[in-house]
Amino acid sequence: MNLILMGLPGAGKGTQAEKINEKYNIPHISTGDMFRLAIKEGTNLGKKAKEYMDLGELVPDEVTIGIVRERLSKADCQNGFLLDGFPRTIAQAEALQELLIDMNQSIDYVVHVDVPEEKLVERLTGRRICPTCGATYHTIYNPPEKEGICDKDGSRLIQRDDDKPDTVKKRLAVNIEQTKPLLDFYQDKGYLVAVNGDRDIDRVFEDIQSKIAK
Ligand code: AP5
Ligand code: ZN
Repeated sequence: MNLILMGLPGAGKGTQAEKINEKYNIPHISTGDMFRLAIKEGTNLGKKAKEYMDLGELVPDEVTIGIVRERLSKADCQNGFLLDGFPRTIAQAEALQELLIDMNQSIDYVVHVDVPEEKLVERLTGRRICPTCGATYHTIYNPPEKEGICDKDGSRLIQRDDDKPDTVKKRLAVNIEQTKPLLDFYQDKGYLVAVNGDRDIDRVFEDIQSKIAK
């Protein structure tokens, strides 16, 4: 199954992607995670991406399309993939269509996780992540068993640099502007399914499963 998860920052894409990955065993491809890894490793890609991410802006299309092209060409994507946070512009969506033609593949569903804008700031500023395994928590909505410590590996949780209040506002504004034309793009192609993301995490996952089983 070839899936795309769409939604504004904080909608729960990464959270649901972890669950989809566990259940359906398809690789989770998050452009945000790929950029964060490159930043951690200090590569040229990381240096370039950081300039934009710290400001809450989108990384330029040619850079982003390049890393997705490389990732989708890996063998583990032949039997399905889950794209999280890509595409985010019409240029990226068009480039993806061409990549998929080359791969002899197509999209099955674009799942739009829909959450009212006013809920997103709280979700983002309360988010904590594990620097070791990448697991995502929330101080109120999805706390670890022991405060500030990853359940899976005992690492101390951290806050993402771009989850500070000023950057959060900018990210939301940038993404709100980009999202509508993309939703229209996929609606026209008949791939779009919408899920109410303003419910508890397991309920949202149940809804996703029922929509992609059709
Ligand atoms: P990226 O990492 O993709 O960030 P994002 O889209 O801003 O999305 P988030 O990771 O913030 O949110 P999410 O929807 O995954 O929510 P999560 O599950 O964590 O991108 C970061 C940056 O990289 C971009 O700003 C850009 O600069 C660059 N970039 C990435 N892709 C790009 C592209 N294609 N083109 C150009 N630039 C790109 O959940 C959020 C919080 O809410 C968590 O704490 C979670 O525990 C909690 N939560 C989740 N679900 C629920 C629920 N149902 N109820 C209550 N709380 C919940
Ligand atoms: Zn961890």
